[in-house]
Amino acid sequence: MPAEGPAAVGVGAVVVAAGQGHRFGAPQPKQFVDLCGMPVLAWSLRTLVNHPDVDRVVVVLSPSRAASPPAWLPDGVLVVPGGVFRADSVRAGVEALAGGVETVLVHDGARPFVSAALVSRVVDGARAGPVVPVVAVEDTVKRVDEGGWIEGTVPRERLRRVQTPQGFPARVLNRTHAIDDAGTWEAQDAGAVTDDALLCERLGIDVATVEGDPANLKITTAEDLALARAMVETGLIAAGN
Ligand code: C5P
Repeated sequence: MPAEGPAAVGVGAVVVAAGQGHRFGAPQPKQFVDLCGMPVLAWSLRTLVNHPDVDRVVVVLSPSRAASPPAWLPDGVLVVPGGVFRADSVRAGVEALAGGVETVLVHDGARPFVSAALVSRVVDGARAGPVVPVVAVEDTVKRVDEGGWIEGTVPRERLRRVQTPQGFPARVLNRTHAIDDAGTWEAQDAGAVTDDALLCERLGIDVATVEGDPANLKITTAEDLALARAMVETGLIAAGN
């Protein structure tokens, strides 16, 4: 929405789904694959679209899909074309919301099992500042050298796995993504930006954590999809949640 539009209110969500999913090894990207009767991305969108705190949803698709979006996208979702790297796609979505909302959630389209409770925690946290949902690391973690030999053991007590949605005051996200300064953005190493909090870290902006959800898995490989299907088939995730 343009800056001269109505005053910014409420919460917007950017769902990024413009990736090619090379690690998935299927003809179509993982977010478009069927997961028990619905594409993965449709699951991800549904929770956000139905959430009472979320006022607007933008989905970022590859330019070719954005030109003819799938018919199953929920009504009211705004479609924008993405970029080369995830961070470029996020920026395109943030730009589409700019000036229209006070709080922005950024979610991976490949995380179908985001729960309404998790969205609420992130929205509440994001009113105060940037916030990411995290889960504890349960495996022992080793650091290896280039040859694969173990160099040492990383204490895991303070390690966290980071999930989405990540939440931000819109003014912070606009700054981290240089919405008003494309030149500054071009100078960023967007390919190295694997999540949105990282851009806050680069600018020295504090990022809080909230409790994530072990069920909020990201579908990257065929094994992840098989696990996701089993989670629905066994009733761990409600088929129509
Ligand atoms: O590659 P990765 O699994 O980190 O991608 C996370 C999310 O970012 C996926 O939903 C993917 O579709 C999206 N993405 C994107 N634009 C890109 C690359 C990834 O929207 N250029």
